[in-house]
Amino acid sequence: MKLRADIIKCGFSQLEQIAEIESKCIPGGWSLKAFEDWFDEKKSIVLAAVYNGEIIGFANGSWVLDEGELLNIAVLEKYRRRGLAENLLKTLEKFFAEKNVTVIYLEVREKNQSALSFYEKHGFIKNGLRKNYYRNPDDNGVLMMKKTGDKYAYTGN
Ligand SMILES: CC(C)(COP(=O)(O)OP(=O)(O)OC[C@H]1O[C@@H](n2cnc3c(N)ncnc32)[C@H](O)[C@@H]1OP(=O)(O)O)[C@@H](O)C(=O)NCCC(=O)NCCS
Repeated sequence: MKLRADIIKCGFSQLEQIAEIESKCIPGGWSLKAFEDWFDEKKSIVLAAVYNGEIIGFANGSWVLDEGELLNIAVLEKYRRRGLAENLLKTLEKFFAEKNVTVIYLEVREKNQSALSFYEKHGFIKNGLRKNYYRNPDDNGVLMMKKTGDKYAYTGN
């Protein structure tokens, strides 16, 4: 059954809670310092899913001109498969659209089948592979993209 959570935009002071979710969901993922060094309200966004006053998931991304990047998305294990990541992704896509983003890129571990299925379900297609990109454990990085606006000019030719 779908879980109705509020999606909020986070500020710098909430990054500690975000980093905590990251550490629970993505072993070897971003540290608090990595989030703090990356965060810049002019070109980055962190969205959190809040349920009963608690942050239970988040997504963060950056954009440059018409290109957006989804950097992380994670939901605490006990709340998964209830549409929260979908809600976060759709909110991020809406935000990017307001910034005139027309294509979104991401990278994911090849062995992360749940994330790969999630992205494919939401229209991302594979467009590259970085061999042995990840460590602990070793894994390839799958590059994915999704065209989200009409102005995107790449034709593949
Ligand atoms: C990937 C992740 C964010 C999905 O969150 P979620 O809230 O469970 O996702 P939603 O409920 O919105 O979407 C569910 C869809 O995602 C995919 N999916 C999620 N978990 C899956 C699993 N264990 N096996 C297969 N597909 C899965 C499916 O397409 C599923 O659709 P379905 O339920 O109709 O089959 C979550 O599994 C997670 O936090 N994983 C750990 C962190 C991570 O790997 N993040 C991605 C890399 S940054």
